[in-house]
Amino acid sequence: MQTTDRSSPKTVLITGCSSGIGRAAAHRFAQAGWQVVATMRDPNQAGDLAGLPKVLVHALDVTDQGSIKAAVDATLSRFGRLDVVINNAGFGLFGPFEPASDAVIERQFATNVFGVFNVTRAVLPTLRAQGAGVIVNIASVGGLTTLPFNSLYHSAKYAVVGFTEALNHELADFGVRAKFVAPGGVATDFAGRSLSVTFADDSHPYAANVAKAMAAWGSRRGGYSSPEQTAEVIFTAATDGTRQVRYVAGADAEALLAMRAGTDDAGYLDRMRQAFGLGGQITA
Ligand SMILES: NC(=O)c1ccc[n+]([C@@H]2O[C@H](COP(=O)([O-])OP(=O)(O)OC[C@H]3O[C@@H](n4cnc5c(N)ncnc54)[C@H](OP(=O)(O)O)[C@@H]3O)[C@@H](O)[C@H]2O)c1
Repeated sequence: MQTTDRSSPKTVLITGCSSGIGRAAAHRFAQAGWQVVATMRDPNQAGDLAGLPKVLVHALDVTDQGSIKAAVDATLSRFGRLDVVINNAGFGLFGPFEPASDAVIERQFATNVFGVFNVTRAVLPTLRAQGAGVIVNIASVGGLTTLPFNSLYHSAKYAVVGFTEALNHELADFGVRAKFVAPGGVATDFAGRSLSVTFADDSHPYAANVAKAMAAWGSRRGGYSSPEQTAEVIFTAATDGTRQVRYVAGADAEALLAMRAGTDDAGYLDRMRQAFGLGGQITA
């Protein structure tokens, strides 16, 4: 086992720090005096992170194993230790399943699922050798329950949730813990520049229902958490010293899960149909 100087500042590596939750998390750890490896696909997007003391900005694309290895190597050579890894990079995919191209499905899983696998596998030898470490995967409330026209995003985030919980059985004997944070809506670039859709035009057979769902979604927006609030939950998950695995982040996520727990499957599906303007009960 490597010996790590327990008195030196701890080090966190975070993916997807160009915006949103990842950027806020990088600031949160930096404020707490951590050594931060703020990674992003394009380091030119670092902005104010670039000037912060003890912050190393490094290129990392979660779909590119070489860039992951380079970032981990740079972390160890600059800071000599790695205590926490935040798998945050990801993007939303909205729309019905049937018209989704193989390419968009593959990109969703390459980023939101295989990206988490890639980074986790790259850091495990270091965490195991240290006999300590925390991996925090940013899942979603959409990894614990579902909304209409998000089937592919849900399937990716459910994968992250299952992966994270089960990983604890393998890592416990090495002193490494895996946790996930499940945010509800967060005011970031997620629903803007980062969002992809499964359909190329409005000629698909689901278009009328998609339009209804989008209109309902637009009128219900609000009550989102800030990225800073979500970063606070991430910081707690990384530092509370517990074996808690699941951290739900945001009042909207808590309310949705409470509603889900209080009804049966059919009742939940019907409530969601109503909420998204798709009519009442499923009759099929
Ligand atoms: N916002 C929400 O409502 C919400 C709710 C639940 C969960 N989440 C999850 O929270 C995480 C962060 O999202 P966000 O809300 O902060 O959205 P965001 O502002 O769009 O940030 C997404 C980040 O992921 C990065 N990214 C995308 N593909 C990447 C790749 N292949 N390699 C490395 N980085 C990549 C983006 O980098 P570029 O600048 O290079 O595109 C960006 O930095 C995601 O996993 C998302 O699924 C968000």
